[in-house]
Amino acid sequence: MLRMQRTVSIGKRAYHDLVTLPGSKPIVSNGPPGYSAVSGHRVTVFGSTGFLGRYLVSKLGKLGTQVIAPYRDEDEARVLKPMGDLGQIVRMEWDARDENAIAECLRHSDTVYNLVGREYETKNFDYLSANALSAERIAKIAAQYGVSNFIQISHLGASKSSSSKFYQAKAEAEERVKAAFPAATIIRPGPMFGYEDKLLNNMAVWPIWWKLNHAQTKIRPVHVLDVAQALANLMPSPLPSQTLNLPGPSTLSYEYLLDLVTSITLQPPSRAPVLPKSIATFIAKLGQNAWWPTISPDEVTRRYIDDADLPGDWDAVGVQPSEVETHAITYLRRYRSAENYVRPVVFPPRPSIVVAEEY
Ligand SMILES: NC(=O)c1ccc[n+]([C@@H]2O[C@H](COP(=O)([O-])OP(=O)(O)OC[C@H]3O[C@@H](n4cnc5c(N)ncnc54)[C@H](OP(=O)(O)O)[C@@H]3O)[C@@H](O)[C@H]2O)c1
Repeated sequence: MLRMQRTVSIGKRAYHDLVTLPGSKPIVSNGPPGYSAVSGHRVTVFGSTGFLGRYLVSKLGKLGTQVIAPYRDEDEARVLKPMGDLGQIVRMEWDARDENAIAECLRHSDTVYNLVGREYETKNFDYLSANALSAERIAKIAAQYGVSNFIQISHLGASKSSSSKFYQAKAEAEERVKAAFPAATIIRPGPMFGYEDKLLNNMAVWPIWWKLNHAQTKIRPVHVLDVAQALANLMPSPLPSQTLNLPGPSTLSYEYLLDLVTSITLQPPSRAPVLPKSIATFIAKLGQNAWWPTISPDEVTRRYIDDADLPGDWDAVGVQPSEVETHAITYLRRYRSAENYVRPVVFPPRPSIVVAEEY
């Protein structure tokens, strides 16, 4: 009986169970596919406690990959624990300024994802240090420890010539990472929507801040799970030294997205006025004195910047991106009143100026 069980659980090995990555130890997978498998990969996800990070850790955990999850606040990292089999999700405390802590987090990994980023400044981290200096430090240490793959998450709007300091810092991060780790893969997603997003949720709660520029700014929203899947697909085949843009499939104005949010939440449309930029910036500056996060002056600037009109590289990452209408009800139903909760969804017509694009 015991012998039979052992024969079934061990199974057969094949050549595809053995992978070798440049400059790293061989990677040997075993076990059945899925959560209880061992893919043989060991991956560090800096920024694992964030919006995108959690979905990425979950996808990697499902592949049977051991994930090192650096965290600052233990409560934020608690949700990661059940995303993999026993011992597969290893949480480690770190500080972006502590080189020893960074080295501890990545020294055994074959792949490092850097998702660390912040779209507002704090008293400890300005745009450059949160987005670029930390990325450079991680990339340097990863190169030093012979990590095979480095995947840096940037932003579709990253540009050195942008009027937004955040977008400038993301572009600076790309440059510094490429200098420190030339084979790094750079991923540039568009604005992401999902359950914990700061896009659809914020539009439902604070429409006034999305009416800036008469709501004519155009963005290319992308589903967070599509980006997480793209990143997970890069683990075995990371496309070294490439920069991949991952915009959503359509270019949509804030005006259309606000209409979409009100038609799904079935709340009355906002009667808030369109604030002039100078007044919005002034209010945002005043808000910086509050201890809770409010809209920052740089976010006001970003509300006037259209997303870059670059072709998407979804084929390279093996994902078909989905439209915002496909998932919006899942994330916005909670804003409906009890009597409207199960009403059918009626989408507003897409205006002709908004182009539905082939990705
Ligand atoms: N959300 C979007 O729409 C969007 C679109 C395009 C690109 N991106 C980029 O994608 C990445 C992930 O985005 P996200 O929405 O998941 O961001 P997020 O929810 O704000 O999470 C950011 C992560 O970075 C960590 N982090 C931030 N500043 C840090 C610091 N100074 N020291 C250590 N850790 C720090 C956070 O740790 P704590 O939990 O400890 O704060 C968190 O784990 C970011 O680089 C972002 O710029 C985001």
